[in-house]
Amino acid sequence: MKNFKLSVASAAALGAALFGATILGSVGEAQAQAREFRLGVITPPAHVWNQEAAALSETLSRLSDGRFSVVVFPSGQLGNESAMLQQLQTGALDMAWLTTAEVTTRAPDIAALHAPFLVEDIAGAAQVLRSDVAREMLETLPARTGAVGVCYAMTGMRQLLTRAPIENVSSLRGMRFRITPAPPIRDFFELLGAAPAPMALTQVYDALANAQIDAIDMDYESIINFRYYEHAPNMMVTNHHMFGMIALVSGRVWAGLSADDQAILREAVQTHCDATIDRFVAEEDDKLARLREAPGIRIVEGLGAEFFGDIVARWDAVWGERTPYVAKLRELVDGF
Ligand code: BEZ
Repeated sequence: MKNFKLSVASAAALGAALFGATILGSVGEAQAQAREFRLGVITPPAHVWNQEAAALSETLSRLSDGRFSVVVFPSGQLGNESAMLQQLQTGALDMAWLTTAEVTTRAPDIAALHAPFLVEDIAGAAQVLRSDVAREMLETLPARTGAVGVCYAMTGMRQLLTRAPIENVSSLRGMRFRITPAPPIRDFFELLGAAPAPMALTQVYDALANAQIDAIDMDYESIINFRYYEHAPNMMVTNHHMFGMIALVSGRVWAGLSADDQAILREAVQTHCDATIDRFVAEEDDKLARLREAPGIRIVEGLGAEFFGDIVARWDAVWGERTPYVAKLRELVDGF
């Protein structure tokens, strides 16, 4: 059978839904679209997300008989997470793996996943992210963000890293804390009397090195990848919130796919969301063990909600008004 190829320009003429696609047709057979999906992430190539995103390309190719592949744009090459979310909305970007933190800027329900001390540890985080309640929260995303939330993954639990040692919670007052730009995280640090400094992941190392910030809120994976302890050697193991990821597909791109192709994409992406969660759960203790060996680091372990006074009640009072999912997730976790 003889194949023919239409150029990108010709494909575009077929309509916005086919934006960026190359069409492969087979004379006398139903046409099948071949395409390379562009996927943006803020994380560097060493990150588990990037490894799983690269593996997604192989899975997608296998499930689609070689028609689909993925090209990953790492390290915020396409812009920060906010820019990527905008590109998803217009269809300029096909997919992005974005932090739940970023998604809270458009979809307040997702903020419930950042409730302080919602879970004790990473196993609890995995249980929440795999729950029906969390899945239900994804339903608002097409309307709120213009993107379909296919599944959740994560980058582990968050810890505190400071330049100066911390005595007690009042030492955090006035500290310039780099945060991922997100209202629920900003509120957590403001409620503690700290001065949150929202900043993209890609700027954090330099901001620490230049002493523009005093401290960061971060997960083991990124602390290891970027060696933040070189400039902020005091790590408090707090597990104060989980740090989720949502695998998003542009709503415009999604709408341009057949139901069969949507199912293929869903299955492939879900496979790598699951693999990402499994890897984080399996590797979290080893990462802490590796950090214990990092040069110059001073680690205080076992700090829990009590260290932060009444932060849980105060944060819940603010966010419980904004989304019913704070109460729903606390109830869910009570049943674990
Ligand atoms: C952050 O903004 O802190 C972040 C983003 C993605 C992965 C890990 C950390």
